[in-house]
Amino acid sequence: MIGVLVSGKGSNLQALLDAGLPVVAVASNNTKAEALDRAARAGVEAAAFPAVEFASRERRDEELAEWLAERGVELVVLAGYMQLLSAPFLERFPGRILNVHPSLLPAFPGAHAVEDALAHGVKVTGATVHFVDEGIDTGPIVFQEAVEVREGDTAETLHARIQQVEHRLLPEAARLFLDGKLTAAVSA
Ligand code: GAR
Repeated sequence: MIGVLVSGKGSNLQALLDAGLPVVAVASNNTKAEALDRAARAGVEAAAFPAVEFASRERRDEELAEWLAERGVELVVLAGYMQLLSAPFLERFPGRILNVHPSLLPAFPGAHAVEDALAHGVKVTGATVHFVDEGIDTGPIVFQEAVEVREGDTAETLHARIQQVEHRLLPEAARLFLDGKLTAAVSA
């Protein structure tokens, strides 16, 4: 069963739901995330865990991990989750957290990958699905696919094409994981 962490629009969450994957819980750091409404519309339990309501980020992440574990979550998917997970969360789900990112990592990590790629003038960027470790958009890579930058692209037009790829790669990775065909071990 899958728990999804979101911060914004939730189009990747929608792709997981549309793929018929067993999403049982959706949580956000942001009480206003549109993704929480999507979860509610799909009949999936959803909750917000804003850091300001907890003594520390670590305490919030502990409670968040507990909430997901209580719902039987075995795979956590970060679908546009824009905060770094602290140690208590990572220790609760070792090798069980996937993230999707709008660049060909390790190029352009962080919250502005599409804008950064455009500013750099790259001709090709793309989408990455990877296992999460303690870094910012680091960890073993599962899937990557290139997306060409077109003449006249804005961050919006380029991101929209990257998201089409994300919406295919992320559900595929989640399904492989649930089928036991994907592990976080990096082969030598
Ligand atoms: C996605 O494009 C995802 O790759 C990106 O946020 C977007 C969320 O869209 N994540 C990151 O930049 C993580 N560093 P969505 O809310 O429509 O799924």
